Amino acid sequence: MPTIIDVKDLNLWYGTHQALHHVNIEIPEHEITALIGPSGCGKSTFLKTLDRMNDLVEDVKITGEVVYQGQDIYAPSVDVTWLRKQIGMVFQKPNPFPMSIYDNVAYGPRTHGVRSKVKLDEIVEKSLKGAAIWDEVKDRLKKSALGLSGGQQLRDAPILLLDEATSALDPISTSKIEDLATELKEKYTIVMVTHNMQQAARISDKTAFFLLGELVEFGDTEKLFSMPHDKRTEDYITGRFG
Ligand SMILES: Nc1ncnc2c1ncn2[C@@H]1O[C@H](COP(=O)(O)OP(=O)(O)OP(=O)(O)O)[C@@H](O)[C@H]1O
Ligand SMILES: [Mg+2]
Repeated sequence: MPTIIDVKDLNLWYGTHQALHHVNIEIPEHEITALIGPSGCGKSTFLKTLDRMNDLVEDVKITGEVVYQGQDIYAPSVDVTWLRKQIGMVFQKPNPFPMSIYDNVAYGPRTHGVRSKVKLDEIVEKSLKGAAIWDEVKDRLKKSALGLSGGQQLRDAPILLLDEATSALDPISTSKIEDLATELKEKYTIVMVTHNMQQAARISDKTAFFLLGELVEFGDTEKLFSMPHDKRTEDYITGRFG
């Protein structure tokens, strides 16, 4: 499949902490790309760089390029609203607790010390608008996030980004989302973070293994799981760490 997003030498710092190191990856169109790796390795950070969700984080520095439709999405001329309609974050990391949509979105900023209600309201609105689901959810902000239907969660952007979409779901709902993702790739391109290696092996076409902010290995899912090139990938997929 042709490349739809071409990531070139991407680096990201949170303050002085470098969370992504020289990431190069070509994401194929109409395929499911899974991002795997131990907690803290940079999967969510990387996913968020694909639609500039890190722009909301203070003190972030990004170098390198994310090329989509012939242009670097970080170029000053890029309209972020347009971008988010093209590359949509489907849902934030779902929580093990049935938090409201509001709390779910505000969780990140709150853990980073944002306490002001006005500021939190603004961030929630901005981030939901960014995900283009604001109109649908604005009246339901205090209801459970898990009440969002698959249709509402899987937005109409050609590229869908999923961050641990099924981690809080029971096996039946998980399998429904997996079936839906597999169906959707005819029309969409999907990039998904998962902690579940069986899930990556089941539904993804390509897998990217991250470790300490570095993309260690990227390739066909079947090959990566059966014949990994890198010893670190092998150790991870055979459960030696992580
Ligand atoms: N907003 C932030 N400010 C500062 N550091 C951050 C921020 N978000 C993430 N980090 C740090 O960046 C690194 C990568 O975090 P990230 O959330 O991308 O990892 P992850 O692979 O998604 O982990 P998990 O599997 O636990 O979700 C970690 O060291 C994390 O502590
Ligand atoms: Mg994460």
